[in-house]
Amino acid sequence: MSNLMSNYSPLDVTFTNGNGCWLTDSEGKKYLDALSGIGVVNLGHCHPAITQSIIEQSQALLHTSNVYRIGNQERLAERLCKLSNMDKAFFANSGAEANEAAIKIARLYARSKNIKNPIILTANKSFHGRTMATLSATGNSKVQAGFSPLMSEFIHVDFDDIEAIKKYNENKDIVALMVEPIQGEAGVIIPQSDYLNKVKSVCDENDWLFILDEVQSGMGRTGKLFAHQYNNITPDILCLAKGLGNGVPIGACLAKGKAAEMLIHGSHGSTFGGNPLVTRVALCVLDVFENDSILDNVNEMSQYFEVQLKSKLIDCKVVKEIRIKGLMIGIELDENSIDCSKLVQKALDDELLINITGNSIRMLPPLIISKEEVNILIKKIIKLINS
Ligand SMILES: Cc1ncc(COP(=O)(O)O)c(C=O)c1O
Repeated sequence: MSNLMSNYSPLDVTFTNGNGCWLTDSEGKKYLDALSGIGVVNLGHCHPAITQSIIEQSQALLHTSNVYRIGNQERLAERLCKLSNMDKAFFANSGAEANEAAIKIARLYARSKNIKNPIILTANKSFHGRTMATLSATGNSKVQAGFSPLMSEFIHVDFDDIEAIKKYNENKDIVALMVEPIQGEAGVIIPQSDYLNKVKSVCDENDWLFILDEVQSGMGRTGKLFAHQYNNITPDILCLAKGLGNGVPIGACLAKGKAAEMLIHGSHGSTFGGNPLVTRVALCVLDVFENDSILDNVNEMSQYFEVQLKSKLIDCKVVKEIRIKGLMIGIELDENSIDCSKLVQKALDDELLINITGNSIRMLPPLIISKEEVNILIKKIIKLINS
């Protein structure tokens, strides 16, 4: 009997070592990791530069609290703001906390505009986290089940439907809109290429804060450092986590202009947020992106993946759609022909880590994946689908 609460149902395997795209279990069996700890270990397991940064920082200093200046945190804020065209950063420990900070900023913005009951528009089928505010923002009743009363300030509209947003143009209580550039937990749902541009225009016209949740799509996952950079736009708030720390827990809420001025002394905080260790590792993650041309590999492997997958699965009746942006990959399967609930274990039996969301296989392989590894991965995926 385990002393762990029952909110997870882990598969019966324990990994003890990792190297690049590969994991080894306690029995010495090797697995290809096409999930990266759900989009976290983007630079691969035990990347030598990341390991070295952890060693060096842990020998120097782990934690002091935000009562004192933290050099690494200031340097990381500066670099992230430069890279994203944002003005200021707040560091949290997870994606949900980064989003939570964004929601608190939206509330303060509402106060500044004298809106008493502020509403934030979010999308159906979205995922923003598991805290009370972020699960209320999430457009998925399964995530919310059992936790009512939810926070009432969220109205959910269909994703990739600009008219559904415009219906709220006259509503003076709307203060912000929060979306993912690509919906990850929904099974890699990619909107029309100009959707974010249109959303940005509607937000600007109505003076709503435009909040982008790039917790999953950010940090190179889609082939640009941030997915919204495909649209040449800048949001008011940009939330990051997952790949930012390559496995150490760090989230960031970046803000621009008026949104960047909302948090004042004492209005928000976190004991661990942005401590010397995690910010040092995130700085190292950015170094690796630059030094190792990570985005070039993402784009090259993405193209290769797409051509190979589409050509090999073209006649496969079970596959309804293949969606791919960078190395964010969804393969939607016909639920009538295949029992998706068994696929994760079946893949594991074949030494492959994937994830299923809805009726889609979701893959978020490490961004350093090689052509040879893509070939192995595709072989295993085809075997899985055909089985
Ligand atoms: C888009 C998005 N936002 C927020 C979160 C929540 O992040 P965390 O689990 O780090 O709180 C996730 C996690 O999957 C996510 O994909």
